[in-house]
Amino acid sequence: MAGKLLLLPGDGIGPEVTQQARRVAEIIAPDIEIDERPFGGASIDLSGEPITDDTIELASSCDAVLLGAVGGPKWRDVPRNKRPEAGLLRLRKELDVFANLRPAYCFSALAGASSLKREIIEGLDILIVRELTSGVYFGQPRGIEVGNDGIRRGFDNAIYTETEIKRVADVAFETSLDRKKKVVSVDKSNVMESGLFWREIVQQRLEQKWSKKGIELSHMYADACAMELVRAPKQFDVILADNLFGDILSDEAAMLTGSIGMLPSAALGSKGTTGLYEPVHGSAPDIAGKGIANPCAAILSLAMALLSSFERPELYDQIFRAISDTLESKAMTVDIGGTLSTTQLGDTVISKLS
Ligand code: NAD
Ligand code: IPM
Ligand code: MN
Repeated sequence: MAGKLLLLPGDGIGPEVTQQARRVAEIIAPDIEIDERPFGGASIDLSGEPITDDTIELASSCDAVLLGAVGGPKWRDVPRNKRPEAGLLRLRKELDVFANLRPAYCFSALAGASSLKREIIEGLDILIVRELTSGVYFGQPRGIEVGNDGIRRGFDNAIYTETEIKRVADVAFETSLDRKKKVVSVDKSNVMESGLFWREIVQQRLEQKWSKKGIELSHMYADACAMELVRAPKQFDVILADNLFGDILSDEAAMLTGSIGMLPSAALGSKGTTGLYEPVHGSAPDIAGKGIANPCAAILSLAMALLSSFERPELYDQIFRAISDTLESKAMTVDIGGTLSTTQLGDTVISKLS
């Protein structure tokens, strides 16, 4: 066997899009063993937990996990620590996949599909490196409570250690070497202490470890970066961001590619550990069950798994080319201006695999 892949289809459109990725995997890499488990709301319905200990254990023993999406209105009233999204955060934390690579690439066939002008996004190729297992998503203490003054308050805690910043900065610097060697690190160092610290450590890390590699590092406030991303997105090569800013900026970058249904991601830990691959989009309750979701992000996430966890770059290229050819042939789902169903798009991608 050439390795093990665990599928966690999840909720809403998650199962619809992962099914297409599964079909591609079975054709292109029949030697990879595929297993599947309920996750998120689907797991809550069965066991009361968004992810079980067994599933976590199984995930850790696989080379890669491919996830659909979790969440939806059905589980809105579930206790917070049992919500579908809590299961996703737990999985990321347990796998320690601290570096989330979110490539925003505009396929030329989709240069007209974005809400931005063609000349702004044509040829766009950005990589967002998002820190994924720390920051305000996980910082303690957090909660909703009544203060000493009797007034209720809600609070979170944005904390980063030096080690956490260094290791994700290293991933950004290393990946930039195969690109244009241009890294923009974003923060709110004008307001946040953790942001000031982030900037200091990223700069220091470049000087200590990467100074001979010719990498150009600059720093930008996260709000300015959000603005620059829609004004002149092609100025960016690699964007390094913390957990929260990376989440927001990657949804924004998704729209530069035509649709959030196009953006894949790879979450990686230290070398040799399980990788977690997921489309950037959510469970899209508004279109779930209609069979119209765009499966490209899920299929491209599979391609990223083949590249990074199974070390089969030729299969990554094959899928990437098939998606590109599919779009060139005007085979598209509704979100990118076409009329095809999720399955029909999957059929076309499969027909283009060669
Ligand atoms: P969403 O990404 O699910 O949907 C936002 C919009 O994009 C919707 O209009 C949706 O129809 C559209 N969309 C998303 N993916 C699409 C696709 N593949 N093809 C076509 N259109 C697509 O975000 P939301 O509505 O804010 O969140 C819905 C639920 O998903 C929430 O419970 C949220 O917490 C969860 N969520 C999960 C993940 C994940 O599991 N990785 C990511 C983001 C959001
Ligand atoms: C994402 C999602 C998740 C996040 C949610 C569902 C927990 O928005 O992967 O982008 O905020 O990280
Ligand atoms: Mn998000």
